[in-house]
Amino acid sequence: MEFDTIILGAGAAGLMCAAHAGGRCLVLDHAKAAGEKIRISGGGRCNFTNMDPGPRNFLSQNRHFAKSALARYTQWDFIELISRHNIAWHEKTLGQLFCDGSAKQIVAMLLEEAAKADAAVWLEAAIVEVAREDSGFRVVTENNGRRNTLRAANVVVATGGKSIPKMGATGLAYDIARQFGLEVTETRPALVPLTFPEGRFAGLAGLSLPVRITGGGTSFDEALLFTHRGISGPSVLQISSYWREGEAISVNLMPSGTLFDLLRARRTQDGRKNLTTVLGQILPGRLADHLATEWGLSGNMADQSDKALRALVERVEKWDLVPNGSEGYRTAEVTLGGVDTGGLNSATMEAKSVPGLYFIGECVDVTGWLGGYNFQWAWSSGWAAGQAI
Ligand code: FDA
Repeated sequence: MEFDTIILGAGAAGLMCAAHAGGRCLVLDHAKAAGEKIRISGGGRCNFTNMDPGPRNFLSQNRHFAKSALARYTQWDFIELISRHNIAWHEKTLGQLFCDGSAKQIVAMLLEEAAKADAAVWLEAAIVEVAREDSGFRVVTENNGRRNTLRAANVVVATGGKSIPKMGATGLAYDIARQFGLEVTETRPALVPLTFPEGRFAGLAGLSLPVRITGGGTSFDEALLFTHRGISGPSVLQISSYWREGEAISVNLMPSGTLFDLLRARRTQDGRKNLTTVLGQILPGRLADHLATEWGLSGNMADQSDKALRALVERVEKWDLVPNGSEGYRTAEVTLGGVDTGGLNSATMEAKSVPGLYFIGECVDVTGWLGGYNFQWAWSSGWAAGQAI
């Protein structure tokens, strides 16, 4: 069978591309349903974009690469699209936009847009081979034991990254890139909880508080959540993209900078109270107890000199933690790294050395922060390739 374009992967980027590619377009996916990650995203409400996406919200070996696509298909274009489909939405903190109803509305919308563009979607289709031919590409697919050899002038690789293999994630995009001579940068789990030796924070599990977290030269002011295995919550997911094995991350448990003044005032008012008790009235009590044990805090407030209080404040504001790992691809929201942008045209996503071969979405070395940025990259890069085809 002959097509103009075969898109590998019916996820966010692949479906967006299918809606714009035109011609005889086929989308192949080995999953039972299209857009499964969209369906489960944002706690079922899909944080589909952000009000203020810019290059600083993305990690890549070339931070300029994403600019062109993000500037040509913006958050406003996607908002306009969902408004046309009467999908109600709201803005949460930090410019994050979510559906009022369900993420399934976004999947349905993308499938409708792809159908409007006459794109076919074949599910439960394994991709057996992608090869160059004189006038385009050969794609061999297998469904229920039946093999189909397909031909197309263009192949768009939109099979995502390695995160959550249980949901069908594979490294296929990287294999195809290498097969065609493209470089792939180091890939690692990102937007992922960080782990510590067993039991370190077990007594704090479930506790969440606002912090400033710093690592790899970047800081985030968001919530931290202690878990049985370590730390999670938005601040930790964000910093995980910047953290490397063996490095410390620094947690400021009192980012308002008011702790010294508070402690001095309490020393005047409550001199006979225990330091840990007072700390537990400023920070969550369970955390104060944990820190008192870890740091060997003791004595009443009246016993604390200014110097001792300053030393405590320094520790609270710069609690250095060295994770022993992350929860890995099992729970990572995205994969950091991917197909090297040096081999791709930033306006079209086409491989510079292989005309007709495109890479879009998460498989490319463009990784967004938490907050709707990864979907915006999927929409923008999918649109850019679709337009170019
Ligand atoms: P995506 O993963 O969406 O699609 C790839 C498709 O390719 C899948 O359908 C898969 O089945 C298929 N495929 C893979 N290998 C294949 C193979 N070998 N053969 C055939 N098909 C294959 N982002 C955001 O901006 N806001 C959010 O709220 C969230 N929330 C969120 C929650 C959770 C739990 C996760 C795991 C991730 C998020 N994300 C997110 C990230 C977001 O889901 C992700 O960045 C995009 O889905 C990437 O879109 P792609 O189309 O590139 O890949």
